[in-house]
This record gives sequence, structure tokens and C-alpha cells, in this order.
Amino acid sequence: MSLNTVRHDYKITKKDREKLNGHRSFLLWFTGLSGSGKSTLANLVEMELHKKGISTFSLDGDNIRQGINKDLSFAPEDRTENIRRIAEIGHLMVDAGVVTLAAFVSPYIEDRENIKNIVGVDNFIEIYINTSLAECERRDVKGLYKKARAGEIKNMTGISAPYEAPVNPDIEIVTDHQDVDTSVQTILDFIIQKLK
Ligand code: ADX
Repeated sequence: MSLNTVRHDYKITKKDREKLNGHRSFLLWFTGLSGSGKSTLANLVEMELHKKGISTFSLDGDNIRQGINKDLSFAPEDRTENIRRIAEIGHLMVDAGVVTLAAFVSPYIEDRENIKNIVGVDNFIEIYINTSLAECERRDVKGLYKKARAGEIKNMTGISAPYEAPVNPDIEIVTDHQDVDTSVQTILDFIIQKLK
């Protein structure tokens, strides 16, 4: 509810902050199955940007769900609310002049489309970490797939809940066929020009 609130416009804008930082700010959104490598790649990309003197911040599904979003489950409506809140936080971070990296399963196309409405289409870069379910299950870093197959976890993306792959992502990384360094470089090559 936003009844009886009036937006106040502050004089210092995103543009002013970008000028101060010497680079543009935007939201890099990593989507893909659990265990696809979103957090690993976001972490490595952030490290490279940091080395170049870029102001960055990372938002990560597993971390955020232990804090601000700990009231949310993996039911579809809670995932939608999860992504909406992150999009709003991402919007604030981008307005603050920070290159923001967000790593969330974000399985629904509609939810990801809504991020664009919140942060603005020019501030949003969708990165699809396309790792096959077979490969995620083979890695099963957190043991969640095993539990989901045993029926111990409900609504597991890829097993008992859907993953709607991006139709036209800005960047697609097929990790089954590409090593980590190449994947990081592909993402950096795309974004470096956008920082100017
Ligand atoms: S999202 O679907 O709402 O975007 P989010 O990225 O925040 O998901 O959280 C996903 C992380 O929660 C996964 O990486 C995994 O570690 C954990 N997790 C626990 N239960 C589930 C589940 N049912 N489906 C997907 N991920 C789950």
C-alpha cells in the first residue's frame, strides 16, 4: 500500500553519482537453476570489476533469504515477492551509482519482465546461466536435488517446480560447454562497454 504518500525528488541524481564514480551503474541479473553457477560467476565478475575500480555490490538468493526475505517460501507467489523485493533493492543500488549483481533462480519469465519495469529496461542486463538439469544434479553441491528426488523438498526448481528459460537474454552462458574463465570473460566483454 502506498496511500497518502507523495514522491519527493532529491537534487542529486543517478547521473550525478555516476559522474562522481566515473562509470555507469546497472543491474546484472543472473538467472538459472540452483547449482547452475550463478553465484560463482557473479562473484568472479564482481572481483574483476572491483579490481578495475568499479563500485559494485552483490545480492544473492541464498543470502537474501536468510535476511530480509526470510519470511518467504518457494511457493510461486513467494518467489514472485522475492524477486519483486530484490528488484526494488536493485533499483535503489543502481540509483546509488553501484553496479549491482543479482544471482537468483528467478524461474518465472513474468517476474523477470517485471524487474525491467522496476529498474528500467536500460538498467537491466539479463544473464542466463544455462546449465542443464542433468549437470546441476550431477554437481548437487548443496545436496538439494537428492533431497528433492527423495520427496524431502517440495517445489524444487527443475524437479517439482518449473524453470522458464529466458527467450532472448542479453548474455547466455552454457556452462556445460564452457570453462569458468571463458564465461567470466564473456560477461566482462559485454558489460565493459556499457560502463562508459
Ligand atoms: S527464487 O526462485 O525465489 O529466485 P532464490 O534464488 O531466492 O530462488 O533461492 C534459491 C536458492 O534456495 C537455491 O540456490 C537453493 O540453494 C535454495 N533452495 C531451497 N529450496 C529450494 C527450492 N525448492 N527450489 C529452488 N531453490 C531452493
